[in-house]
Amino acid sequence: MTHVVPVPLGDRSYEVHVGAGLIARAEPLVAPQAPRGRVLVLTEERVAPLWLDRLRAGLGGIEAPALALPPGEATKGWDGYARAVEWLLDQRPERADVVLALGGGVIGDLAGYAAATLLRGVPFVQVPTTLLAQVDSSVGGKTGINTRHGKNLVGAFHQPRLVLCDTGALGTLPDRDFRAGYGEVAKYGLLGNEGFFAWLERHGPGLRGDPAALSEAVRRSVEMKAAIVARDEREAGDRALLNLGHTFAHALEAATGYSDRLLHGEAVAVGCALAFDLSAQLGICAQEAPGRVRAHLEAMGLPRELRDVPGLPGPEALLDLMGQDKKVRDGKLRFVLVRGVGEAFVTADVPREAVLAVLAASGDAKS
Ligand code: GLY
Repeated sequence: MTHVVPVPLGDRSYEVHVGAGLIARAEPLVAPQAPRGRVLVLTEERVAPLWLDRLRAGLGGIEAPALALPPGEATKGWDGYARAVEWLLDQRPERADVVLALGGGVIGDLAGYAAATLLRGVPFVQVPTTLLAQVDSSVGGKTGINTRHGKNLVGAFHQPRLVLCDTGALGTLPDRDFRAGYGEVAKYGLLGNEGFFAWLERHGPGLRGDPAALSEAVRRSVEMKAAIVARDEREAGDRALLNLGHTFAHALEAATGYSDRLLHGEAVAVGCALAFDLSAQLGICAQEAPGRVRAHLEAMGLPRELRDVPGLPGPEALLDLMGQDKKVRDGKLRFVLVRGVGEAFVTADVPREAVLAVLAASGDAKS
């Protein structure tokens, strides 16, 4: 069963299709986007052997030349971008040609930015193959690359024309990547829907073995993201709620070198627990709320504390790293805090001492 989630953005509106087996049925969905009968595929070396032939079979008569790039965040830099764009130019593209991203968040962000800049902008289609990309990065049109100054500091808003979230593709995802992607799923419940969080508490631990529940979790996450993006495409307001846990998470990722010492979704899990701690510390949410969040993250096998991440620097150094985040405005750190599960809001009004206290408590060895 496929669900179609619209992303209503005027003449840039598109649909996100969610369901198992979509890659095998891609042709009728992609054909209206590919008037020249071809798509230019950017994919990743681990994904191509598993999914590229299946995608080509699913695309039927649509031609699909492909470039597979190395795995890892390092691909999403100037060199990977140059390689992708030069290859796309080798294919002698025209403005009507479509770039198709087949892979996780790194490939989606890079392919989207390549599409945004190739010939001053060509259409693109996302076929995300990781949980993180299906529920977050493939929807909403944020594209970009990293520089030595930080993550996603060069980029463009460029909405895809179509997103195909084939939940069957998640079957080949390593467990750790699945769990990390789940960090973003839990985030949706925590930021805006207590009912969804309660549903996740019941269904989360069995999600990998329950295709119907998995599709439901992806669909509900995409629906929440689509609604927020439709209200605030360029993050002037509500879209910042999607950054629950991210001010902490970006500091943790910077401290661990954006490496597989800590995956983005794992950093978001720890960040969400800390955002609840900070809210409780400031008396904004109930003292029991952080415990409920941690219990669920633990049930999902996700890290929850700074002490779960070996080799992190101390609280002052982490606070410094937070200050290098894109979300800093007028020199003030912005946090997404919570009044409770499902009730997030954005504020710049957080005393430094409160943040340091939360970081110190989470980093201390358990007594
Ligand atoms: N991943 C956050 C956003 O798309 O706004």
